[in-house]
Amino acid sequence: METILTGDRATGRLHLGHYFGSLENRIKMQYNYDTYILIADVQALTDNFSNPKKVRDNVYEVALDYLAAGIDPKQAHIYIQSLIPETAELTVYFSNLVSVSRLFRNPTTKFEVAQKKELFGNNGESITYGFLGYPVSQAADIACVNANLVPVGEDQLPHLEQAREIVRKFNKIYGETFNVPEPVLSKNPRIKGLDGNEKMSKSLNNCIYLSDSEEEVAKKVMSAVTDPAKIKKDDPANPDVCMVYYYHKLMKNPNIDNVCKECKNGQRGCVFCKRELINNIMQFLEPIQERRRYYENRPEEVEKILKEGTEATRKKAMEVMKRVREHMKLDYFE
Ligand code: TRP
Repeated sequence: METILTGDRATGRLHLGHYFGSLENRIKMQYNYDTYILIADVQALTDNFSNPKKVRDNVYEVALDYLAAGIDPKQAHIYIQSLIPETAELTVYFSNLVSVSRLFRNPTTKFEVAQKKELFGNNGESITYGFLGYPVSQAADIACVNANLVPVGEDQLPHLEQAREIVRKFNKIYGETFNVPEPVLSKNPRIKGLDGNEKMSKSLNNCIYLSDSEEEVAKKVMSAVTDPAKIKKDDPANPDVCMVYYYHKLMKNPNIDNVCKECKNGQRGCVFCKRELINNIMQFLEPIQERRRYYENRPEEVEKILKEGTEATRKKAMEVMKRVREHMKLDYFE
């Protein structure tokens, strides 16, 4: 059976961008693959090292969001990154196989550094060793379970490319050890924000969280960007520039052809259209939120799931690392 490894940083609750960007794929794929899903607390600490409580709290939130969204703990091993020390060991070995200049060229890292001026300085001059190197530890996450498939959003592709380079180099120097991992992108690898931004992202403050209440969703949808040329409610408009229409499509509104026609003919007011979208989003979120409430009320069950997922991952990582040490001639007392 092929092996999947993927996960998310424990920096906040998951939102629709995560769902359509990647979660949806993971939920579908978990039945046919040996699936490992990590909650990346070590990686979250690379830029939140002074706020360990935030990371700790969000490990739990992300676990709840995974279970709520439909990751089935009978199918997938959900685990906590820091509890797999083999990853830290492999990160050290991998760090010899990547140049510092290559890490500096990673576009996702560059973008993130530019966003975190307070932490890393105006020109990234205070970037830490840990943050620069997190793609190396991400490669180790993947290789530690010898995964060959990595379902992720578009922003993760540069990290995957880097992981592939490292793994290939390892195999060349020390002998065939790892699968070269492939990214798996969803139909919509990047979800736009209701504010018209190219990306739904916490740092842009434009997210609809899987756990948002109707009131929160309504507030966000009501302020969504629509066709600026439309002034009055019966003006004809262009749905292609309207974020409400974009989200109607995303939510697979069965009435989508009418939405488009009525909008173009000036038969559909924006407030009405937004109310319909709020309803559709809440309908979509309802089963997710119901499962979330189930697990919120059973913290021991969540803890057990994380513990078992972590133990299963550790078992696999120990097997893989045994081979790594043999291939690297580090198997001293075996
Ligand atoms: N970088 C990912 C994120 O920002 C989280 C992550 C850590 C990851 N290790 C991984 C994703 C390995 C896929 C594979 O959410």
